[in-house]
Amino acid sequence: MAKSKTKMAPAATPQVGIHIGISEKDRSAISEGLARLLADTYTLYLTTHNFHWNVTGPMFNSLHAMFMAQYTELWNAVDPIAERIRSLGHVAPGSYAQFGALTSLKDAPAVPPNALDMVRVLVEGHEAVARTARSIFPLADKASDEPTADLLTQRLTVHEQAAWMLRANLEA
Ligand SMILES: [Fe+2]
Repeated sequence: MAKSKTKMAPAATPQVGIHIGISEKDRSAISEGLARLLADTYTLYLTTHNFHWNVTGPMFNSLHAMFMAQYTELWNAVDPIAERIRSLGHVAPGSYAQFGALTSLKDAPAVPPNALDMVRVLVEGHEAVARTARSIFPLADKASDEPTADLLTQRLTVHEQAAWMLRANLEA
């Protein structure tokens, strides 16, 4: 997917001002980061569900089940990320076009790869989402945005653990 900077949707014009102790500049910068995290998470969700459907071979049972646990977790994660963007006064992206432009992940391959290559794609995906989440941390920290920092901590824990569990399938 495109790595170029993508213009975020303009900030929602709130009917009522937002006075939570975080400047508009900081809320905007954090929301842009969270929009990229949302797009990454959604893209990885879709690829993981795709692989749940299309995995074949002797590892079918374990990978089919592992991918289901992971796509379910990712699906549940998109909502709090999007709602944090809303709490900061910005519009949450929610279309394939926006996600495609914002994500740092490649789209799922059109032809399903073999089982171990699926695992490799997902390891790289979880690592990429972790890098995106980590890159937002300094912004949240600087603005004393504890709810965002907490959300990022949770997402980092999940992605780093998932990457380990997937990676373990590739080791002798
Ligand atoms: Fe299923």
